[in-house]
Amino acid sequence: MEDMIREAMAFVRKSYEEEYSGHDYFHVLRVYKMALYIAEKEHADTFVVGLAAILHDVDDIKLSPETHEKQENAVCFLEKHGMEKNSISDICKIIKDVSYLGNSSVVPATIEGKCVQDADRLDAMGAIGIARAFAYGGNHGRKIYDPAILPELNMTKEEYRTNKSTTINHFYEKLFRLGKYMNTDTAKKIAERREAYMRDFVSRFLKEWEGALL
Ligand code: ADP
Ligand code: NI
Repeated sequence: MEDMIREAMAFVRKSYEEEYSGHDYFHVLRVYKMALYIAEKEHADTFVVGLAAILHDVDDIKLSPETHEKQENAVCFLEKHGMEKNSISDICKIIKDVSYLGNSSVVPATIEGKCVQDADRLDAMGAIGIARAFAYGGNHGRKIYDPAILPELNMTKEEYRTNKSTTINHFYEKLFRLGKYMNTDTAKKIAERREAYMRDFVSRFLKEWEGALL
């Protein structure tokens, strides 16, 4: 089991070598550690949580659109390591439910899925979340801010991916709302602190924008 976790880490590290959109190996490492922390507090199966956390982005629609549908990277890795069909489909289901896009959020059926989803969402919050948002924005040709472009709070999955909003709007469109979607009490507490930090940041950003001498 230990070996499989180590090999999954190595597999993921290799696939992210050229990735600068905020979905890198270190994101996976943080999600893995956070998911295990939550799993222990919530008495979830740490092997399943760990493996799903490590593999949660290998077939992401933005990073690997050609394998996204059938989750080929994850399935292939798990098959190669002799995992049985039912366990593979459990892990794949967790990974499918993780991502939050627009209004199509899914509540995972199992506690293991809840832990991984919470951990991934927590990594979009706080100081790391702020850094990732601007890295993603720059990578996708978005402005940091434009007062003429208002946040769009009711986007469909498609609109969320294609809209040309600003990165500051992303805080209103997604990041300030993540706390409400946390599944576990453990994650809710962390989300509260991270949300307060992000709100402070945006409020100061807007004051400086207006020329405040802070
Ligand atoms: P997930 O990790 O659940 O797949 P996303 O792919 O939506 O989440 O986002 C990955 C990271 O990129 C997150 O930190 C998120 O806040 C950031 N991000 C996603 N969309 C935008 C956007 N439109 N503007 C700025 N940051 C974004
Ligand atoms: Ni992720």
